[in-house]
Amino acid sequence: MALSSGSPPPSVGPYYENGGYQPDSLYPPRPAVAPTAFSVYPAPYYPPAVPQYTPRVPTSASTPASLVQPKSPSGTLCTSRTRKALCIAFALGTVLVGAVVAAVLLWKFMDNKCSVSGMECGSSGTCVTASQWCDGVLNCPSGEDENRCVRLYGPNFILQVYSSQRKSWHPVCQDDWSESYGRAACQDMGYRNSFYTSQGTADDSGATSFMKINRSADDTDLYKKLYHSDVCSSKTVVSLRCIECGVTAKMGLSRQSRIVGGTNAASGDWPWQVSLHVQGTHVCGGSIITPDWIVTAAHCVEEPLNNPRYWTAFAGILRQSFMFYGSGYRVEKVISHPNYDSNTKNNDIALMKLQAPLTFTDKVKPVCLPNPGLMLEPTQPCWISGWGATYEKGKTSDVLNAAMVPLIEPWRCNNRYVYNNLVTPAMICAGYLQGAVDSCQGDSGGPLVTLKSSIWWLIGDTSWGSGCAKAYRPGVYGNVTVFTDWIYRQMRVTFLPPPDWVLSLAVPKPDVPRRGPAAARWPTAVGEVQAPPP
Ligand code: ARG
Repeated sequence: MALSSGSPPPSVGPYYENGGYQPDSLYPPRPAVAPTAFSVYPAPYYPPAVPQYTPRVPTSASTPASLVQPKSPSGTLCTSRTRKALCIAFALGTVLVGAVVAAVLLWKFMDNKCSVSGMECGSSGTCVTASQWCDGVLNCPSGEDENRCVRLYGPNFILQVYSSQRKSWHPVCQDDWSESYGRAACQDMGYRNSFYTSQGTADDSGATSFMKINRSADDTDLYKKLYHSDVCSSKTVVSLRCIECGVTAKMGLSRQSRIVGGTNAASGDWPWQVSLHVQGTHVCGGSIITPDWIVTAAHCVEEPLNNPRYWTAFAGILRQSFMFYGSGYRVEKVISHPNYDSNTKNNDIALMKLQAPLTFTDKVKPVCLPNPGLMLEPTQPCWISGWGATYEKGKTSDVLNAAMVPLIEPWRCNNRYVYNNLVTPAMICAGYLQGAVDSCQGDSGGPLVTLKSSIWWLIGDTSWGSGCAKAYRPGVYGNVTVFTDWIYRQMRVTFLPPPDWVLSLAVPKPDVPRRGPAAARWPTAVGEVQAPPP
């Protein structure tokens, strides 16, 4: 967390540097010749460069006129008559083959086959009809059609279900709803054993069409028990919370005076903040979202650090000097966003699954993933926290720091005097154009959170910036609001395989479309089959 003093004059020009936090001990200088055998990592880790500025105008002239082009070999080959004929035939053949290839490619790319038959399964090219989407049956090869059919919407966590017939989301009416359905919906979203509350709440969305549960339907698939209804007699809809997130122990107290401008954090202020260590050194920050899962930045876990063995997570500890190996949590799995681009830092988000779940306390608590429909202000006040450097090129801080930074609208951040279009929709800018308050090296992966409806939401993960706290160079964060689907999907597919006794209960019938792990929604027989023992 940097609080720079001066504000240097704005400079326009290529963006360079940054590139992940790099404690000297971890990232030795690149050897001049061949790398010598290095004990810690398969190859020395060289942190990625910041999004690079690619000049939009070609910088070099085309081939100089004086350059003598090598002569085409055909000039000498195609001399005799027969050879000429052969050459012509060959040329024609080549053109023909080329045309066919071009036509095939054109057909492949131009023709959206699914425009007629319905929707495409991801980018697989397989099409399914609209009514097969969210119908409880796995139709797509990777289960995309059953991937995201329930969601929690807005700051009040309104449970919504996607209707394949109407191609829209509908709130679930509280009539006949019970907690066990709520538990099932949470599992469906990726919360393994986590459930917090399911309540009826006044519907303020003005919905005229609801999903209702038909308790008597003897289908074990809860999703199939839902039907459309224009009446909801209870006049309340389901508000579902799968985890108690986004609260701090001393929520009532004003934290403003301690944080504005960036100051040392007090114990329990940012209970979701974790410090991620490699070989006893703080490398990156992260945010707790469930007892098993931590959100961090993809650039923190670039090869070889994508190996979970390197990492230890520390939660609930304010000072680096109090983090001892034994008090940390080992990491079981590291998942980087598949579309992360180390050059541009696009999609800079990753997940870590812990080997053992965290125990929540006053000092260790999860932050909420942003629901769709949260509606943030263009300059929404947000808070960043971390053990990063307190000034540009400085050392990691021993104590956790935090600061308030407002969001910066994308068009401002992409201004040519700021980041000149380096900020993609998967990024979010926060800070001050005059500089002075910012995240810095070592804060990466850590949280950018905002308070809305008395709940703290994870809006970003610290990603990059040019220098720290410089004028016209605000911090750039991974835009977590665009990654929530991806996060839930990872959580869902990483469910432990069910124990054998569960599998033996559900021997798939031949010829019946089988549901893969990705579509393990509405687990069979809600309320009938108990959750397997942990
Ligand atoms: N990439 C840095 C890290 O790995 C974070 C840089 C944030 N920079 C900024 N100016 N906000 O720790």
